[in-house]
Amino acid sequence: MKSSISLLILICIAMIAVNSCKTEEENIDQRVEKLLSQLTLEEKVSLIHGNTFFTTPAIPRLGIPALHLSDGPCGIREEMNPHDWNVANATNDAVSYFPSLVALASTWNQDLAAQFGKVYAEEAIIRGKNIMLAPGLNIHRTPLNGRNWEYMSEDPFLTGKMAVSFITSAQSGGIAVCAKHFALNNQELARDTINVEASERALREIYLPAFEAAVKDGGVLSLMGAYNRFRGQHASENSYLLQDILKKEWGFRGLVMSDWGAAHHTLESANNGLDLEMYPINGKKGDYYLGQRLLDSIKAGKVDAKVVDDKVRRILYVMCKLDMIGKPETDTTGMAAKLATPERAAAALAVADEAIVLLKNNSNTLPIDLKKTKTIAVIGDNATRKHAYGGLSTTIKAKYEIPPLEGLQKRFGTDVTVKFAQGYAMSKDLNAKDPKLVAEAVNLAKTCDQVIIIGGLNHEPGNDCEGSDKPNMNLPYGQDDLIKAVLEVKPEAIVVIIAGTPVDMSSWIGKANSLIYTSYIGMETGTALARVLTGDVNPSGKMTYTLPVKLEDSPSVVLGEYPGSNGTVNYKDDLLVGYRYFDTKAVKPLFPFGFGLSYTSFEYSDLKVETGKEKESLNCVVSFSIKNTGKVEGKEIAEVYVKDAQSTLSRPDKELKGFTKVSLKPGESKRVEVTLDKRAFQYYDPEKKDWVLEPGKFMLKVGSSCDKILLEKEIEL
Ligand code: GLC
Repeated sequence: MKSSISLLILICIAMIAVNSCKTEEENIDQRVEKLLSQLTLEEKVSLIHGNTFFTTPAIPRLGIPALHLSDGPCGIREEMNPHDWNVANATNDAVSYFPSLVALASTWNQDLAAQFGKVYAEEAIIRGKNIMLAPGLNIHRTPLNGRNWEYMSEDPFLTGKMAVSFITSAQSGGIAVCAKHFALNNQELARDTINVEASERALREIYLPAFEAAVKDGGVLSLMGAYNRFRGQHASENSYLLQDILKKEWGFRGLVMSDWGAAHHTLESANNGLDLEMYPINGKKGDYYLGQRLLDSIKAGKVDAKVVDDKVRRILYVMCKLDMIGKPETDTTGMAAKLATPERAAAALAVADEAIVLLKNNSNTLPIDLKKTKTIAVIGDNATRKHAYGGLSTTIKAKYEIPPLEGLQKRFGTDVTVKFAQGYAMSKDLNAKDPKLVAEAVNLAKTCDQVIIIGGLNHEPGNDCEGSDKPNMNLPYGQDDLIKAVLEVKPEAIVVIIAGTPVDMSSWIGKANSLIYTSYIGMETGTALARVLTGDVNPSGKMTYTLPVKLEDSPSVVLGEYPGSNGTVNYKDDLLVGYRYFDTKAVKPLFPFGFGLSYTSFEYSDLKVETGKEKESLNCVVSFSIKNTGKVEGKEIAEVYVKDAQSTLSRPDKELKGFTKVSLKPGESKRVEVTLDKRAFQYYDPEKKDWVLEPGKFMLKVGSSCDKILLEKEIEL
């Protein structure tokens, strides 16, 4: 009797909950329609384009405030001057400088992504921002893309999972975020004009899934149309991408903004799904395609005024979701003291700790044994270089940034003497060499117990920087000579590469005993590196993109016609992006996708697979045990891949469809579960124009990286 009453109560609660959420949406729709009916055509048109670099206009008589937008993935960009659209040079807008998104993804830790989203939203609110222009969800297709470091991975599933954790958490913090750049913006070279041709399967299975997850699972409230063209039409006015797929198929209710200057025509922007044009392409403030030109086109009968209503409806929908209507704009006085608090710096450090990837550690060179170390030589321009302010739109005015050298000096205190040699110098000429600096570094290395070389890339053009691709995969400024010369006299020297894209290490990797690879990991870079190098923190990051031996091994080069010719790049690499290529074509990379070492070791055992009986949900639960078989506590990322043993259409050898991260004490074992949904087994059938699950055999492969499969089981669906 009791159980049926409690069941009844539960059902009532559930119905109220569903109703309340329905009424919330219904309530918003009613408020939006009411506002829409009160707006004049001119007011509506004023709302669908920017009025300064990062704002839209307010309509005070109806309680519609201005929308305040801001970059970027690593934190809240400095204030712009609303009048002349330049940097305001404010003195109260220094913020937390968070790790880059490729660093966040390298943690494979969705809880950290949620924590990041929380603190990120806190600072945006304090700075009075409503829409933050992140996360970047484009796939790492080529090792040369200048913006890969702003994106997460070569794999759409990992990107989608990490993005959804970040998005849901940031948006529950009271801001909207903006999934960008929609879509197929995988190179910076000729980004404003390049036309991307890609198959329907590559589009659906590689380039869109992270955006699809952001919309369907993350409820992202805005997307940014990309600069490039797709199948001949600019992405920011592309009816297939924006109308057919995003709004009709996926049911997206938020707003689509253009990238800055990415709208090119009044009729296309008006009719193909662009809702908000940011920055006039000709730079003439106020001269927008969705401005006076649109009004003129409506009056001339070329555009139906109703298209404006849908745009305004979406903008008002986002404002209502943010509860902005009728509310005063954020009062940001006194904000300086509320920014970059220790709690947020701690969140940045937590991500940085887990974003560091240990790729090589022969004869346990690492962690550094401080009992045997009295002097340490720290060599390399990246030991002291700060990266916050670089990278064009991702630029951050950091409250502070601790580079590697400073972090090491703080960690070692007076117990160890830390000496520095620049080793190489940054230059406009990427091929510049400075033998004097190399000689100086080698001499220092000879005199110290331990040597740490800290090299890699930076945010100068030709490196990891928006607006250009890298000319090649070489380490710039003669770093190869430096690393080889130091390893000559100190084979046990530790090599740390700071980069958001692959670099060619083939000339010295064989001689290096240890290698750490990490991206731009924020304000506590030096703290985190020192913690990992000394073993205070056991590294747990894993690569989210393949490190090829050389550029010529990359599928975008071998198959994919990067960077394109005559204005078009044809994605002939198709589905074979990243590990999908190296696996399927059996090309050995230098370091594979999903690879990363620990100071301890793990054992996987006892794989079980239970497939749900219900055909629809098809919840396939993969469970297995992981044991820490080493002497120190550690975190392990376990990866679950699916191989379609027999499929009508060709499929990559295997694809990542699940992962989990678990913390284990020495000797501890835990049972972990990864649930695969139906999509984990499907492929997109261009004939049926839908995802299909083809009955047959599938192999489930559990591993510590894509090329280290430890457990596998065949199932029949
Ligand atoms: C830039 C970038 C975009 C950024 C926007 C605003 O060109 O492509 O990511 O959010 O303009 O700065």
